[in-house]
Amino acid sequence: MGEDIFNATIVDRRDLTPELAIIRVRHDTGTVPEFEPGQFCTLGLPKEEPADAPATEGPARRGPRMDRRSYSIATPPSVRDHYELLVVLVPTGKLTPRLWTMEAGSRLWMQERADGMFTLKPIPEGKDLVMVATGTGIGPYISILRAYRDARPRRWRRLVLIHGTRLAVDQAYREELEAITAQDESVRYIPVVSREPIDSQWKGLRGHVQAALEPAVFETLAGAKLDPAEAHVFLCGNPAMVTDAQALLEGRGFVADKMRGPMGNIHVERYW
Ligand SMILES: Cc1cc2nc3c(=O)[nH]c(=O)nc-3n(C[C@H](O)[C@H](O)[C@H](O)COP(=O)(O)OP(=O)(O)OC[C@H]3O[C@@H](n4cnc5c(N)ncnc54)[C@H](O)[C@@H]3O)c2cc1C
Ligand SMILES: NC(=O)c1ccc[n+]([C@@H]2O[C@H](COP(=O)([O-])OP(=O)(O)OC[C@H]3O[C@@H](n4cnc5c(N)ncnc54)[C@H](OP(=O)(O)O)[C@@H]3O)[C@@H](O)[C@H]2O)c1
Repeated sequence: MGEDIFNATIVDRRDLTPELAIIRVRHDTGTVPEFEPGQFCTLGLPKEEPADAPATEGPARRGPRMDRRSYSIATPPSVRDHYELLVVLVPTGKLTPRLWTMEAGSRLWMQERADGMFTLKPIPEGKDLVMVATGTGIGPYISILRAYRDARPRRWRRLVLIHGTRLAVDQAYREELEAITAQDESVRYIPVVSREPIDSQWKGLRGHVQAALEPAVFETLAGAKLDPAEAHVFLCGNPAMVTDAQALLEGRGFVADKMRGPMGNIHVERYW
């Protein structure tokens, strides 16, 4: 396999659990493509083809076939020399089991453009933002928080981040988020766990992120009502969560974005 299709390098890797890692990737130019907070990049590796695979008929391909996957960028756009990505191992997947064998210095392919509409660009200033994630779906919100937290006037009136994970150890960025909320009263962070052992030290919410969207619970933890006239809700991660939370919010007067038509106040990013 020619080295020439690779144009990027893993420059750092921090394993949070055996299945969850923060990976930093640098493009060979030394500068990553520009992006809006909330967008994703695309990484790839050449497909693993059996050594005895028959030669391809027809016109010559312009390079090896690739397994390409999207990863939300957690760095703010001001960081120009790498993307930080929060990645979970999907044991049955094509790309992540291979990423899991790679260390700092490993080579891979990066698309020379970031993509995605899951950003604050169309959202009016001064709204309440409710950012709901499962698992690695917290990545785009980390970029948004890092990018806008020092903006004055504030980009939002309140920002409430609800993060659902199986276990407390899966709560990536928890220390950073707790430090932000300790300094900034406009930001609230509500972690929720679904599979944490009942006798553990966990004192917070249990169940799914929907538990934090219950009106009384939300008002207590966020310090305000969840009001469709004032709030935009972002949903990111597990597609079952996105579908279920969207239906719950639509029942309370929120309206999801449509492909064509006016912008709603529910914005979604499904990871699979
Ligand atoms: C816009 C966008 C942004 C994304 N950002 C991230 C990110 O920041 N971090 C991240 O880890 N992943 C992210 N993903 C998911 C990522 O693109 C891959 O799908 C994931 O890494 C699995 O790749 P794979 O090749 O190992 O598995 P695949 O061969 O692609 O998947 C095998 C099967 O596993 C399931 N699956 C896929 N992804 C997941 C998952 N994360 N959890 C559970 N089941 C899954 C699906 O049913 C899929 O059919 C994002 C996806 C999209 C569309
Ligand atoms: N995180 C781990 O400990 C771990 C370990 C090994 C491998 N993996 C692999 O990593 C991949 C992703 O795992 P993940 O834990 O990051 O993500 P995930 O499976 O999407 O789970 C993240 C959170 O979303 C919750 N959830 C599931 N369906 C929901 C719904 N309809 N509404 C609201 N919340 C919902 C899960 O609750 P539930 O607990 O009810 O599912 C969990 O709390 C999987 O392929 C998994 O096999 C994960």
